[in-house]
Amino acid sequence: MDTPPATDPLDKLPAILKEDLDRNLCTCNEVVKMDVINAIADGAISVKAVKEQTLATDGNGCCRRQVERLIECICAPELEK
Ligand code: FES
Repeated sequence: MDTPPATDPLDKLPAILKEDLDRNLCTCNEVVKMDVINAIADGAISVKAVKEQTLATDGNGCCRRQVERLIECICAPELEK
């Protein structure tokens, strides 16, 4: 098996963003943070794609910045050390 192990998207998040994973990130549409993280990890790497998959940001858009931040962290290239 040459397939690399799947990386856990939570490994890419700073501790502060790993809190309240089972609470609503998008209160307008009752979308929990973990659902947004999983959508991003599965390829929804834009706010538009996250909205289409989860409905997060589809209310008045008040959680948009939080979704953008999660995308930034999860999609950031691995830093070479
Ligand atoms: S909390 Fe997500 S659109 Fe308002």
